[in-house]
Amino acid sequence: MQPYLIAPSILSADFARLGDDVAAVMQAGADVVHFDVMDNHYVPNLTMGPMVCQALRNYGISAPIDVHLMVEPVDSLVPQFAEAGASIITFHPEASRHIDRTLQLIKSHGCQAGLVFNPATPLSYLDYVLDKVDVILLMSVNPGFGGQKFIPATLDKLAAARDIIDQSGLPIRLEIDGGVNPDNIADIAAAGADMFVAGSAIFNAADYAEVITKMRQQLAK
Ligand code: DX5
Ligand code: ZN
Repeated sequence: MQPYLIAPSILSADFARLGDDVAAVMQAGADVVHFDVMDNHYVPNLTMGPMVCQALRNYGISAPIDVHLMVEPVDSLVPQFAEAGASIITFHPEASRHIDRTLQLIKSHGCQAGLVFNPATPLSYLDYVLDKVDVILLMSVNPGFGGQKFIPATLDKLAAARDIIDQSGLPIRLEIDGGVNPDNIADIAAAGADMFVAGSAIFNAADYAEVITKMRQQLAK
């Protein structure tokens, strides 16, 4: 297993003072910025695009930026996000006509590539492309909104994804997104996740460092 990574979802940050809020959460001990892109088409909500990613880089955010594309189509945004400073780009396989091509496109722009699985999306989308995948992201809520409850069936799916990764021998990250908090993070890690997105649990807290420390304590058990 690779070291655990905590990735605050900035969907729950204060958009009016985004640079400061992202800097604060990194200062509080986070590892990765999770950047949720919603298009009011693939998901019923609208958030931010490459210009905001670039603005965070210009502001001095140097941490890896994990761009979670909840958009359809996917490919036109890949070069733009790569140029805007994305480190990882993940997309939902149902939103791309040519999954293999999109994975190659992301990697050809120097970013790590990942597939995102909605709660009811089968892991069989990994067949035949596992060697091109750096990250498997399992959604533990239906995408579109922060602050939803973790769907327990995701724990079995995490275990299945962990088996696929371990059997492949590839250094693939297993990321979980939706409803993660200090109370359930230990069970989620036990099921096989090694990268944890948390939006509301971190940004709704008065003290970011306290929540992140609690999460790390749970992960150390
Ligand atoms: C949902 C997003 C998540 C979400 C997580 O579509 O992909 O990243 O913001 O938020 P919480 O942790 O509040 O469930
Ligand atoms: Zn996300």
